Amino acid sequence: MENLKGLILSGGEGTRLRPITHTSAKQLVPVANKPVLFYGIEALVEAGVKEIGIVIAPETGGEIAEAVGDGADFGASISYIHQEAPLGLAHAVLTAEEFLQDAPFVMYLGDNLLRDGITDLVNAFRSSEPDALILLTRVPDPGNYGVAELDGDRVVRLIEKPKDPPTDLALVGVYMFAPLIFEAAKAIKPSGRGELEITDAIQWLIDGGKRVESHTVTGWWKDTGQLDDMLEANRLVLEDIQRRIDGELVDSKVEGRVVVEAGARLERSVVRGPAIIGANARVTDAYVGPYTSIDAGVSVSRAEVEHSILLAGSSVSDLGSRMEASLLGRNVKLSRGDGLPKTLRMIVGDNAEIKIP
Ligand code: TTP
Repeated sequence: MENLKGLILSGGEGTRLRPITHTSAKQLVPVANKPVLFYGIEALVEAGVKEIGIVIAPETGGEIAEAVGDGADFGASISYIHQEAPLGLAHAVLTAEEFLQDAPFVMYLGDNLLRDGITDLVNAFRSSEPDALILLTRVPDPGNYGVAELDGDRVVRLIEKPKDPPTDLALVGVYMFAPLIFEAAKAIKPSGRGELEITDAIQWLIDGGKRVESHTVTGWWKDTGQLDDMLEANRLVLEDIQRRIDGELVDSKVEGRVVVEAGARLERSVVRGPAIIGANARVTDAYVGPYTSIDAGVSVSRAEVEHSILLAGSSVSDLGSRMEASLLGRNVKLSRGDGLPKTLRMIVGDNAEIKIP
């Protein structure tokens, strides 16, 4: 199976990650200072899949294409596929028909992260050549996922968010298909939520007696579509980083597995890993606690931050209490006024979430 292609889905609306997704693609939110999407591209390339199409939405596609480019930086060749509206994962497959042609392909959801990559899965698909191969993982709350029922390795039924789950095997956002999937996607009807569901297309294959196999992942998997999962993905990726200090430390203490990128400067501060401080960031008279990713050019002064993601260009200063479990978008300014009376004064966009103790 030589001509295996990759299809990354990076369209969608990202409603569950508003307001970040009002102005920016969720697939570009950084985890340990690297966009989620880049992990997916790297996983495909590592599995030997280098001809990749990325499905993009009209609102966020330009930004994604600008961040990713033509693939040369990843050792891949990347093209872009425009999906006019987020009409479902099987609809995304249909929009990519011209790109995929008659090649078998790996479909990867652009907001998913797998610790151990997908090389084993791709190898299993290459050697067994089924009509579809899906990835599964055991979860404690299968009712929140698409769930598979198996007979050995063969999939006999897929159920979307079952009330009474027959197994605890949830569908992970990576799938492999033979070209027959196009026929399946064309045969099915939109679901109750108005989308062409990939689970329905796969069920169509099963019902037609086609070979649908499964592979169970053991390393962690995260869908970063909501805030808590994004923070959890950040925590899991930071768990695996190695200490590296390329920036400048002035009267500061850096404990444990911490990356301080070149050009960053820490003054009179404490950073307790695992954490990452991006290029040209400034941390002054501050505490940065475990599981925090501070992106390039961020400034933290006279403040405490923990278990959070701060996007490029943001600044946090003079907070009266520790900030935690937070996601700050680009160029956000968070500070405390020094005048009296103690009032709050802010300009906050639609659907933002702020909790004040
Ligand atoms: P989802 O997270 O299921 O959908 P969404 O991005 O619209 O988010 P929300 O539910 O918060 O509104 O999508 C999984 C991935 O697939 C994500 O990277 C977006 C992408 N996608 C498409 O490219 N096209 C589509 O039609 C859909 C539904 C999703």
